[in-house]
Amino acid sequence: MEGSREQVGVVGVGWVGLVTATCFAELGHPVVALDIVEEKVEALRRGEVAIHEPGLADLLRRNAERVTFTTSMDEVLDAARLLFCCVDTPPTYSGDADLSRVRAVVERLPDHGGHALVMKSTVPSGTGAAIRRDKPDLAYVSCPEFLKEGSAIKDFMHPDRVVVGADAGSENAADAVERLYAPLGGEVVRTDVASAEMIKLASNAFLATKISFINEIANVCEQTGADVTEVARGMGLDERIGASFLKAGIGWGGSCFGKDTIALKKLAGNTGYHFQLLSAVIDVNELQKRRVVAKLTNHLGPLAGRRIALLGLAFKPDTDDMRDAASLVLAARLQGEGAQVVAFDPVAADRARDLLPGVEMPASAAEALEGADAAVLVTEWPEFAELDWAELRERMATPLLIDGRNFLDGNALRAAGFTYDGIGRAKVGA
Ligand code: UGA
Repeated sequence: MEGSREQVGVVGVGWVGLVTATCFAELGHPVVALDIVEEKVEALRRGEVAIHEPGLADLLRRNAERVTFTTSMDEVLDAARLLFCCVDTPPTYSGDADLSRVRAVVERLPDHGGHALVMKSTVPSGTGAAIRRDKPDLAYVSCPEFLKEGSAIKDFMHPDRVVVGADAGSENAADAVERLYAPLGGEVVRTDVASAEMIKLASNAFLATKISFINEIANVCEQTGADVTEVARGMGLDERIGASFLKAGIGWGGSCFGKDTIALKKLAGNTGYHFQLLSAVIDVNELQKRRVVAKLTNHLGPLAGRRIALLGLAFKPDTDDMRDAASLVLAARLQGEGAQVVAFDPVAADRARDLLPGVEMPASAAEALEGADAAVLVTEWPEFAELDWAELRERMATPLLIDGRNFLDGNALRAAGFTYDGIGRAKVGA
């Protein structure tokens, strides 16, 4: 019944699990959340949130009495009928999703009925069917996750859609999941498990395709003199195309697009189908990250001995997540060319330090730009637009700014004495 309280179990308190647990608690449901990492559970019990996600720590604090953190699966099984599986499914070396953590969860569930596993982790089509072959009495619902890092609370509370996939025998569990999400108002797509699994992979692959497409348009714009931001605006106003995910830049990153595009390509390949378009989407993204090095060389000549400042390291703003961040490829490439790389990120620097050996990381953008031959804007943190660029210009050895996210005002920078080079905007700042 809508409005009633359902004890919710969450297995795996990484980013998805913690957001899910906290938001269900905010909706009034008691939640038991399990993780196998004891230190993580202890820190969460003390109210310490190690992830940078806007609003999450406060929301958890507000709902602390409704969320119990535990390392005991028995405690979760005793308390909750619906178990949301939120464990990681990282890519293996071969590109397939690594389902070992999902399997470990399933193994710990009782064979007899009574519980329902609600899969939030991104898994290839066929995973749900395989789990139910092993545990025929376990109700199983595929309820894929569409949260974006940096706006996860808002995305949870205002979903575009809620996908609920269930096969015969799991209808009651699917109804219970629907009831949990009902107050949020997103359109419910009730479907079978295989389709729900595919909706998730296809959605991420399509978004990645949109970005790679606009990045290729940007690369052509650089040759024809068009401005890709104008082109994207003109395209995006067509309702059939839509304006979102048409921002050209130095490529997509994060824990999902790379993993899911490769997983879908592999999944297709395993069935004997060569997903040509997706292969290109992935290749374009890899090349896009490297184009910045070519831009720098065009302006500066050989990069050996040059001091290059990266502004932003996280894969996108409002997160400290460094997974698959463009900065990692870029820094390594620049170091490979013999450049001295210095970087500043207002939030991700601590996480980035171990991943970027040899990269100097001062405490401010101004210090990073001191004596630099070029600045590359890698992550569009809002505070970079507020910097006093005219003053910063004086600190730099060469006032060259490569705007990897088309984020800054190129014409204003040009007026302040910079050479400005965005992505797909040959005439801006020229
Ligand atoms: C993505 C999806 O957007 C979510 O719906 C999904 O739930 C999530 O993956 C997941 O599978 O867990 P996320 O990886 O958090 O979310 O970040 P996005 O906001 O989608 O950005 C991904 C990358 O694309 C970033 O590097 C961003 O800078 C880049 N991007 C995004 C562009 O280059 N251009 C754009 O127009 C939009």
